[in-house]
Amino acid sequence: MKDRYLTIALCKGRVANQTMDLLEKLGIKCEEIKDKSTRKLIFTDEEHKLKFFLAKGPDVPTYVEYGAADLGVVGSDIIEEEQRRVTELLDLGFGKCRMCVCGPKDAKELLLHREQIRVASKYPVIAKDYFHNKKYQTVDIIKLNGSVELGPIVELSDVIVDIVETGSTLRENGLDVLEEICPISSRLIVNRVSHKMQKDRIEKLVKDINACLHSES
Ligand code: PRP
Repeated sequence: MKDRYLTIALCKGRVANQTMDLLEKLGIKCEEIKDKSTRKLIFTDEEHKLKFFLAKGPDVPTYVEYGAADLGVVGSDIIEEEQRRVTELLDLGFGKCRMCVCGPKDAKELLLHREQIRVASKYPVIAKDYFHNKKYQTVDIIKLNGSVELGPIVELSDVIVDIVETGSTLRENGLDVLEEICPISSRLIVNRVSHKMQKDRIEKLVKDINACLHSES
């Protein structure tokens, strides 16, 4: 029987480009994806019977859970936040950053004394889990959709829970990392049915990617 397409959902932007750079080393090429001027969302590699599509990060686990994509590449922050029924196959090692509690220096006291504080975040599930289940601190979580650093500056919140990569957004806004929650990196995830039905193909892909990742280190 001829292979069907394996479909891979990629988080739009840098993660998609880094994934394609990695796959290129395995001979899987799709130049069109990296073309910044294209508005196309789906790309096909006929030779390897692969289809790629570009989605917003938080939607990648959704496509994978429902089987609209067999595989997905997305940050572990989003996997944690979205709580979808998918299986994580591999840490791809790129997209490294940290999930942190940040704020003005003096907010450190509020954390130390476990006061009831307001926490702004794009990641309410991660923020709630951290404060309620790990720190046993009662907090009000305020969901924001971006530019979260504004929270403490305009006194919407005492602190924020957000990703820190270079730290320059914090520095330029006079905020600091107060506590570190967890490290983050891009992961390969799989739909649970596809994992069983396309076992050999998926395992081969994972093996090849793994070999490629380890030959680099
Ligand atoms: C992310 C994150 C921080 C910033 C961290 O924001 O929410 O604001 O990047 O990176 P840095 O430590 O290198 O400065 P993003 O650029 O995704 O935009 P957003 O704030 O609108 O979500």
